[in-house]
Amino acid sequence: MEIEKTLFDAHRARFASIDGFLPEAAPAPVVGERVDAATAAGVQVTGVVQRQLHGPDDVPLLWSAADVRQLFPFIGNTGTEGMDVLLRAWRAWMDAESPGEDSSCVVNWPSRDAEAIRAFLDHGLVPMSALAVRAGGHRDAPDAEGVAVRRARRDDFDTVLAMAVSTHDYIGQVATRHRPNAAELLAPALERALDKDLPLLWLAERDARIAAFAHGAWITSSPGSAEAELLPHGRWGYVNNVVTLPGLRGSGLGRTLMSVVHKEFAADGADGTYLYYNPTNPLSSVFWHRQGYRPLWTSWEVHPASALR
Ligand SMILES: CC(C)(COP(=O)(O)OP(=O)(O)OC[C@H]1O[C@@H](n2cnc3c(N)ncnc32)[C@H](O)[C@@H]1OP(=O)(O)O)[C@@H](O)C(=O)NCCC(=O)NCCS
Repeated sequence: MEIEKTLFDAHRARFASIDGFLPEAAPAPVVGERVDAATAAGVQVTGVVQRQLHGPDDVPLLWSAADVRQLFPFIGNTGTEGMDVLLRAWRAWMDAESPGEDSSCVVNWPSRDAEAIRAFLDHGLVPMSALAVRAGGHRDAPDAEGVAVRRARRDDFDTVLAMAVSTHDYIGQVATRHRPNAAELLAPALERALDKDLPLLWLAERDARIAAFAHGAWITSSPGSAEAELLPHGRWGYVNNVVTLPGLRGSGLGRTLMSVVHKEFAADGADGTYLYYNPTNPLSSVFWHRQGYRPLWTSWEVHPASALR
């Protein structure tokens, strides 16, 4: 979809000034429906709405509604007012839609744009998840005593699956909705990971009992790739699912596990690591910041989609 050049140039300049770690702002999506608005001074702003539908067996249901309408805003340097009038126009556009209960309105936006946050909150959107990066320069706290970290093996499958499901169960309370078929949705990726010679699955043991788990992946952000819209170019270690058994949380297992994960990613040439966490998660929101991560993009969401104000 074509966006007016002066508006897009202002959009790009605004992103660059908000956060120096953001990659160059991506052009407007090719597919979608356009929503237009103007500020009181007559400055035009625009957005593209894309719809994504997920079936009951689709993995994105682990973190997403089944029926998603995502807005890609282009507000140049109009700040709170520009985002506000655009969200108002989107609300009016939504009046013609009839989304069901398992639906959402989503805007993924640079975390540090404080002016936009005012508008998101005023329209009923909440910070559902954030992409956070850790790119060097962080000093780890010392490891906990008596914790051994190793890669998972094929015969750990049942444990690994139960741990991954328990992360989902916890997040189901504090952020995205709980899915009763989480085990079926999570199992294939864990099986594929365990089939590798050196799976990117780590287990922390204390007293010879498995106590914490982390799942990782390699992601490359290269020119023109989808990843390059979110992350600076480079080879990134992606941290996908981390959990400590409920009774053992707060005793240094997560910290000790992640110090091995970070060291091993760095030793294999990662430019940095990144992950998604939920700002409303009272455990992970604190834990990841102390681990040296900071938010780059925040996914502002309202569930169901009809609740957009
Ligand atoms: C996030 C999580 C993996 C951290 O693992 P952990 O083993 O508790 O981590 P640590 O003990 O190393 O650090 C937890 C921090 O919380 C504090 N804490 C204290 N009591 C705690 C308790 N009862 N429960 C949790 N954390 C506690 C610790 O003091 C520690 O802070 P510190 O840096 O001052 O040491 C764990 O809380 C968890 O499993 N949460 C539920 C699933 C989840 O949210 N996963 C992350 C998805 S992004």
